[in-house]
Formats: sequence, structure tokens, C-alpha cells
Amino acid sequence: MLDFSHGAAYVDGQLVPIAEAKISLLDWGFLHSDATYDVAHVWKGKFFRLDDHVERFLSSMGKLRMSIPHSRGDLRSILVDCVRVSGLREAYVEMICTRGLPKPGARDPRTCTNRFFAFAIPFVWIANPQKQTEGLHLIVSRWQRIPPESVDPTVKNYHWLDMIMGLFEAYDRGGETAVVVDTRGNIIEGPGFNIFAVKGRTFTTPARGVLEGITRRTAIELATEYGYEVVQRNLPADEARTADEVFVTSTAGGIMPITKIDERAIGSGIPGPITQKLQEGYWTLHEDPHYTFKIDYE
Ligand SMILES: Cc1ncc(COP(=O)(O)O)c(C=O)c1O
Repeated sequence: MLDFSHGAAYVDGQLVPIAEAKISLLDWGFLHSDATYDVAHVWKGKFFRLDDHVERFLSSMGKLRMSIPHSRGDLRSILVDCVRVSGLREAYVEMICTRGLPKPGARDPRTCTNRFFAFAIPFVWIANPQKQTEGLHLIVSRWQRIPPESVDPTVKNYHWLDMIMGLFEAYDRGGETAVVVDTRGNIIEGPGFNIFAVKGRTFTTPARGVLEGITRRTAIELATEYGYEVVQRNLPADEARTADEVFVTSTAGGIMPITKIDERAIGSGIPGPITQKLQEGYWTLHEDPHYTFKIDYE
């Protein structure tokens, strides 16, 4: 019997235990970060906003001139299968399209056959529920995000060296996570999350240079529903440092309070009431059939 309890992957048309999932060393996804991906999640046995993730994934593939012989419906059922065989009720579910391998001896991306992979593993947290009650200590990194003129940030991508070096810098400076900036010191995003600053009744989130996160979208929808104004524009680091509340958004953890930026406490140094209200709203949506669908594990 195959053991899928640590997760399951879809590789070459087969479901395999996650530890046995392998790709070619020569795939450009590995050699050149020539790939796109998306991550959805399963909570209490239900997918959350899966169609939105699949839509963004297909749009990313289109922008990178990639194609695979799978319909939307195929992708959905492959992802469900990965979760179903793993039996995971809380899962982190990734879909990936790589450029594949060119013809032997060639370096022409048009000769590559693009490849699709997927996997489900136990849920991944940027800040776990315990940490979310305290809030995170964020460092504004000196590293700049790769500019949107170079790599389209609306295509979910593996160009993470700026953010990974930002993380090392954050740990060296006593922080827990990092955001990278643009050439003018505006905050862009962090390793796997978008950011919001709240001042009065206005939410500000960077407009440009970011992945348009699905959790960011949920936060914007909830804030608007609760009667707040949401503005998408540049977010200078000092504006975030002096905000009433700051939070980050990601599939890997939802809406997560930031209670310290560099050496400065945000608000009173504990998660603020607006962030908490949004967090509650976010997890309540996980019961809403409009946003979720139940996995049949039988
Ligand atoms: C660079 C980047 N920004 C933002 C996000 C958040 O996006 P989402 O809310 O869709 O998970 C991610 C997710 O991994 C990301 O990689």
C-alpha cells in the first residue's frame, strides 16, 4: 500500500506519495525558474476559492505562453484527487506548470513541451494561530523586489531570491518576516504575502509590482462590505510604520496582524480590532458555499 499520509502529488499522469514525486533535472522550471504556479487551500475538508486560483493559474500560463492538455475541469479534479488520496482535511494545494525540456541540443523555448504537476501537503502557515494572536515583527528589507518591467508580478512566479535574502536580513535584525521595497522605498510585498496598512477608516495596499493575491481580494471585499475605504496606491515604508494597524494576507494563513515594524510598535503593539474583525470574516467565509466546496473523501 502506498502511504499518502504526508501528501500526494500528480506527476506524469499518476498520483504518487509526496516523497516519491520527482521531475527531470533538465526541466527549465528547475534550471531557469521558468514556471508558474498557484496555491489554494483546503480547510475542514473544503476547498476555498478554488476556481479563483485556477483562473489566476490559467491567466499566468497564458502570459508566459504556456499550454497544457488539461481543461479547467481536469485541473479541478486532479487537485481534488491529490487531497482525497492524502486524506488531509487542512491542506496546502499547489499546481505548477513548467516550461519543460527543449529539444536535445536546442535552446528554443518554442520546442519545449510544457508540463503540469500538482500536490497536496499539510497546511502551511506564515504565522500559525498562536503567533497570529501576538502579531508578527516585520522588517522593511533593504532588498528591492525584482521590477515589474522585468518579471510580471501578476504571474505567480518562483523569482524569490530578493525575498529570501530579505528573510535572512529580517532574521539577522531580530525580525520574523520581511517585505521588499521598490527603488523609492515603497513597500511591495513579502515572501508569499501582500500587505495592508489601516489609518482611520482607510485601508491602503500597494497597487503596483505585486501579485494580486486571492486573500488580498478577500480582504478588499470584506473591508468594502464593512464600510471601509480601500485604496490601491504606493505605500511608503514610513506610512506603514505610523499606521493604526498593519496586516499581511496569504493563502498560507489568511489575514495576519503585524504588531511591530523594524523597531517600532504598530498601534498599541497588539493585533488591532479592525484586523481581528477581518480575520473573523475571513474564516467565516470558509463555511460559505459560495466560496467553498466539500471534498468527497470516500
Ligand atoms: C509574492 C506573493 N505575493 C502575495 C501572495 C499572496 O497571494 P494569495 O493570497 O493568493 O495566497 C503570494 C502567495 O504565495 C506570493 O507568492
